Amino acid sequence: MPYVTEHNLTDLAIERWGNIPDPRLRQVMMAAIKHLHAFVREVEPTPQEWFAAIDWLTRVGKMCDDKRQEFILASDVMGVSMLVDALNNRMPSGATPSTVEGPFHIPNSQEFADGADMARGAPGIPCFVTGTVRDLDGKGIGNAMLDLWQTDGEGLYEAQIGKDQYMRGVYHSRPDGGYCVRTVAPIGYTIPMDGPVGELMQKTRISHMRPAHIHFAVSAPGYKPVITHLFQRGCEYIETDVVFGVKEPLITDFVKKDSGVAPNGETLTTPFYEVKYDFVLQKAASAQKAA
Ligand code: BEZ
Ligand code: FE
Repeated sequence: MPYVTEHNLTDLAIERWGNIPDPRLRQVMMAAIKHLHAFVREVEPTPQEWFAAIDWLTRVGKMCDDKRQEFILASDVMGVSMLVDALNNRMPSGATPSTVEGPFHIPNSQEFADGADMARGAPGIPCFVTGTVRDLDGKGIGNAMLDLWQTDGEGLYEAQIGKDQYMRGVYHSRPDGGYCVRTVAPIGYTIPMDGPVGELMQKTRISHMRPAHIHFAVSAPGYKPVITHLFQRGCEYIETDVVFGVKEPLITDFVKKDSGVAPNGETLTTPFYEVKYDFVLQKAASAQKAA
């Protein structure tokens, strides 16, 4: 092996890491070395700067536990989570696009009947989300599962408020694919800013806000599940979402209605919002092959 110089070091490292039996790990590690070396060659960090970067990564790791994932947050704000999502969910046109899951999903939420209220007294303006779950040919999918989670009308998730079964719920579509959810309208909110990611964001001019949205995980046997959000058109943060999650087809109208009969048949004495959205699922790859 030749002795190391500034000029041959990258080639030497790629050659050494190219000797891995597993082809996928070999590909990943050779690309990692190539791009990391290119980054260091471009930035030329001082030893103090390199130590500051390692210290930041160390603190990101120390902030992670079963409730808080600062590494995911770092990946979210740098657009990497959405890039991984985009590369892995290339949808046919017409199917509901996916978007980032985020850190606040809690599985196994309580089940609610069609039209029932998952907000149960939480603060906020009543909001009804209605539509169908259907396939790419327009056929309704009965008994599809809609797993929802969101902030209350003050911008807080269950994990932040410390209550159990708060602002989340599971619904199932009716036999014709229709569904009706009663909730309260979410508002825009800030990502957690009390950790090293927040510390970094404070040194930038980047907005740390997410636009108002409701999270949905929609699934049905024989179909590819989709994890997505519905965003409120007109929210002031819609064009600057800190995690790059907004896709045009996911922006919906939250139509303000005066008091009166709501989509679930209840009569409300206060104004409420109505949101209409059809979720379109594509067949699972295995179901497509069998067809
Ligand atoms: C969320 O929408 O819940 C979220 C997504 C990414 C980072 C922080 C929050
Ligand atoms: Fe969210």
